[in-house]
Amino acid sequence: MNIKSCNDTKTTMTELVLPNDTNVLGNLFGGRLMQWMDIVGAICASKHAEAQTVTASVDNISFDSPIKLGDVVTLEAQVSRAWNSSMEVYIEVHTNRITGQEKVKSNHAYITFVAIDIETGKPLPVAKIKPETKEEIQRYESANRRKEIRLILGKRLKPKDAKEVIDFFAEFAEEE
Ligand SMILES: CC(C)(COP(=O)(O)OP(=O)(O)OC[C@H]1O[C@@H](n2cnc3c(N)ncnc32)[C@H](O)[C@@H]1OP(=O)(O)O)[C@@H](O)C(=O)NCCC(=O)NCCS
Repeated sequence: MNIKSCNDTKTTMTELVLPNDTNVLGNLFGGRLMQWMDIVGAICASKHAEAQTVTASVDNISFDSPIKLGDVVTLEAQVSRAWNSSMEVYIEVHTNRITGQEKVKSNHAYITFVAIDIETGKPLPVAKIKPETKEEIQRYESANRRKEIRLILGKRLKPKDAKEVIDFFAEFAEEE
């Protein structure tokens, strides 16, 4: 199976915030933004896997500043790491006024997708990822730890078997 760069998986989606996307304050609904993040992430993961994918888990998402009616929302996704059949996708959201003001980062999230064989419904193997930039390498190297936390929360891994998480916190304890 071949190896792809994070850049090969880059996927961008642009949305205009319309009245139907907002609450009574004229701010974008958090749920609508999560829907867009899930869609851009799924396109990105499916491109990488060259297969259908399903959302396996969504890491925490914070909403730091409101996105307003009429704003342009740009969502950029790239696979940060791929394992056997699962892929972690990093999604970054930027917002700007349609009149062209500078883009502001609104939030980011990690979503995990699993490639699925549509005939059998079973997970499919996917290509590995080769990170290139400093940020891509940082995200790649910390991805095993995030995966372990997701699997613990999903009751698929016992905390005592989460080697990367245990090593990470042991390093902190040594520093103190
Ligand atoms: C995700 C799903 C495909 C896993 O299927 P499964 O039969 O349990 O398969 P496996 O145990 O072999 O796991 C497959 C991969 O999913 C990963 N995975 C499973 N649950 C996960 C979770 N909660 N978080 C992160 N990764 C998860 C496993 O680590 C494994 O990754 P790997 O192959 O890269 O090591 C299955 O649980 C599913 O179909 N869930 C519903 C998906 C869905 O409908 N999403 C939309 C929500 S409405």
